[in-house]
Amino acid sequence: MIKNISIRYSEFAHWEELGPDDIELVKKAFEVSENAYAPYSKFYVGTSLRMEDNSIILGSNQENIAYPSGLCAERVALFYAGSNYPNLKIKKICVVAKGEIIPKENWISPCGSCRQVMIESQNRQYQPIEIILVSQNSRVLVFQSVSDLLPFAFNQ
Ligand code: THU
Repeated sequence: MIKNISIRYSEFAHWEELGPDDIELVKKAFEVSENAYAPYSKFYVGTSLRMEDNSIILGSNQENIAYPSGLCAERVALFYAGSNYPNLKIKKICVVAKGEIIPKENWISPCGSCRQVMIESQNRQYQPIEIILVSQNSRVLVFQSVSDLLPFAFNQ
């Protein structure tokens, strides 16, 4: 039997079309991408998390000459949140990037390991996390839940 799954997501031509709180989130993600330590890939990624108390937690990718020892911006931010505010729910994750390794019109799309970490963050708080992905030419995709980016996830 063949079955289908489908997801719903929103597209915006420019992140300035988002609401004021989300514009702030995008700007903060771009700001923190400047702190990326990415001498090997020269791909500078920023992640901002909107927490339930409306505070913002930031992370950037941190690379290492032993390549697998580095970590993506998303997991830097999520693990910082888990370490310091384990009981504070995450409302939104915004990801932006600058660099040559993907075309300017492509959205930064989280890697599989980051999606796996995101879905566990979502499951442990029993509340969906919205995902905002921004391309280098400022276009935006918004997903309502991590599950949309990781169907059939390995879950408890
Ligand atoms: N990277 C991220 O930080 N987030 C992503 O979603 C994709 C990739 C980082 C990892 C590495 O430092 C560089 O970008 C190139 O892959």
